[in-house]
Amino acid sequence: MIVTAQHVCRSYRSGTLRVDALKDVSLEIVKGEMVAIMGPSGCGKTTLLNCLSGLDSIDAGDIFIRGDNLRDLSDKERTSYRARHMGFIFQDFNLLPVLSAVENVEFPMLITGVPAQKARKRALEVLDLVGLIPRARHRPAELSGGQRQRVTIARALTNEPDIVWADEPTGNLDSDTAQEIMDLLLHLNRAHQQTFVIVTHAQDIGDLAHRIIRMRNGTIVTAA
Ligand SMILES: Nc1ncnc2c1ncn2[C@@H]1O[C@H](COP(=O)(O)OP(=O)(O)O)[C@@H](O)[C@H]1O
Ligand SMILES: [Mg+2]
Repeated sequence: MIVTAQHVCRSYRSGTLRVDALKDVSLEIVKGEMVAIMGPSGCGKTTLLNCLSGLDSIDAGDIFIRGDNLRDLSDKERTSYRARHMGFIFQDFNLLPVLSAVENVEFPMLITGVPAQKARKRALEVLDLVGLIPRARHRPAELSGGQRQRVTIARALTNEPDIVWADEPTGNLDSDTAQEIMDLLLHLNRAHQQTFVIVTHAQDIGDLAHRIIRMRNGTIVTAA
């Protein structure tokens, strides 16, 4: 098991209002799996992804990644764990507009102290994996939505992550492009034995995954 969640609860307080975003959620994800998390808006998908990846804290329960309980790690250890073993893809690309594709991919590596030459070499390698070498010198504004998402996928792969977390990665794309991006993720999953956890509310995207975990109102309703 690469991810195990046991009885996870997470509430948010805004003023006097309390929202139980996750209510006793338990699940298991096998290494190399491609899992889709589906459910209506507000049901807790993003909260679950953020808790499982250690970006957000939990109120009760346990989350194990590769057997390690996230609770036993300090903030610093969790951050370095993410940097070493995880990749993140978001809906809204998060690309810096003044940087080219290759610069956007190498930027996080430079920040974490990877030498410039090494970062450039790795950035070109991962851009090659997503088929974007011909656009490596283009800025985001000069790229299509699908190409922009390929840049963010490349950026998520630089550390050869064991797990890639994707929150609505096709949410801003038309359905043909969304399909193309899912095909790419499936290819990467097969080729590199990487585990993918993908939040989506599009059924045709979920259907491409190995398994669908369905959520409603802070709980899992099916994980078959
Ligand atoms: N930072 C926050 N503060 C307060 N409430 C939040 C916060 N994040 C999420 N919520 C609430 O938790 C619930 C689940 O949200 P979320 O996980 O974003 O759902 P989804 O991704 O499925 O749309 C919603 O009711 C949302 O309003
Ligand atoms: Mg969400």
